[in-house]
Amino acid sequence: MTDLLSMRGVSVTYRTETGDVPAVRDVDLELASGEIVGLAGESGCGKSTLASTILRLQPQTATVTGEVLFEGRDVLTMGWGDLRALRWAGASMVFQGALHSLNPVRRVGDQIAEPIRVHTPEVPDEQVRARVGELLEQVGMPAVRARAYPHQLSGGQKQRVMIAMALACRPRLIVADEPTTALDVMVQAQVLDVLSALVHELGVGMLMISHDLSVLAELCDRIVVMYGGRVIETGPSKMVFGEALHPYADALSAAFPRVGDRAARFAPSGLPGDPPDPAALPPGCAFAPRCPRAIEDCTLAVPELLSFGDDRSAACIRLAEVS
Ligand SMILES: Nc1ncnc2c1ncn2[C@@H]1O[C@H](COP(=O)(O)OP(=O)(O)OP(=O)(O)O)[C@@H](O)[C@H]1O
Ligand code: SF4
Ligand SMILES: [Mg+2]
Repeated sequence: MTDLLSMRGVSVTYRTETGDVPAVRDVDLELASGEIVGLAGESGCGKSTLASTILRLQPQTATVTGEVLFEGRDVLTMGWGDLRALRWAGASMVFQGALHSLNPVRRVGDQIAEPIRVHTPEVPDEQVRARVGELLEQVGMPAVRARAYPHQLSGGQKQRVMIAMALACRPRLIVADEPTTALDVMVQAQVLDVLSALVHELGVGMLMISHDLSVLAELCDRIVVMYGGRVIETGPSKMVFGEALHPYADALSAAFPRVGDRAARFAPSGLPGDPPDPAALPPGCAFAPRCPRAIEDCTLAVPELLSFGDDRSAACIRLAEVS
């Protein structure tokens, strides 16, 4: 078990009018202080649902089972007082689509100051203002931009403000859910640089979610790949991106060719079909209908996530052949 985050057997099922949607199934995930772990997978595979359990932010229609241990304490069963302290001060989140979640009629400096004021009301105003300036400078913006309203900032600057908010109460863990998807590639690279520099400088842990494996490979120490709500591969990021074991992780990796990779240029690869409906997964391996290596046995049982060497694992019955 790691010191910071240890998720064990986590499953999340949404109740809907048309029936239950088991969005996350029996997921284990470990994240140590100072480590950046990437969570990858196509749309609908359960990344945001899994991430929402870390701060217990899932909607009331969701039933969560398993354990989400933050610094050894289970987030799923802790009392409201402890949960309030955990949110922002222990762990914080940069949301998917965060660009639109800033309040348009409040100066960004006041919005960054808010969690500091809520969690440490005894800190005098002057010190809060100084801290807001320091946070803006940490994310590469001049302190005077605290007076700006969101509409006066570019997309990249707004995203930096969101990161400054997430850092405001000095959390030990940041959960970043597609923090740069809405930005153009150049700004995306700048924002990701800021994030990774801060994580390393401040020694906090980060769970970074993206469907883009190449972004994760650049930034993360390890990558966890999900499919149909389950983890299907984990390992050091350069290996999962470059030499994936599982056919799905391999296809996902091939969908984002490396710069200068001539072979990929001349043989562009894609993944046929769509990810499965979590409420109606195919029998056995959920990837079987799209898998180029599928054989009849693949549909008989859900493949177990097996260790492969010291630091890798994958869930594919043909793993022995791949190795
Ligand atoms: N509140 C909800 N009620 C019912 N079903 C939901 C709810 N939120 C998500 N789902 C379903 O759960 C599954 C997983 O969704 P989730 O948002 O976790 O996927 P994701 O991997 O984050 O996808 P994306 O890359 O598009 O953000 C999807 O099938 C989605 O439709
Ligand atoms: S178990 Fe079979 S279908 Fe699933 S990934 Fe492996 S080869 Fe493909
Ligand atoms: Mg999502």
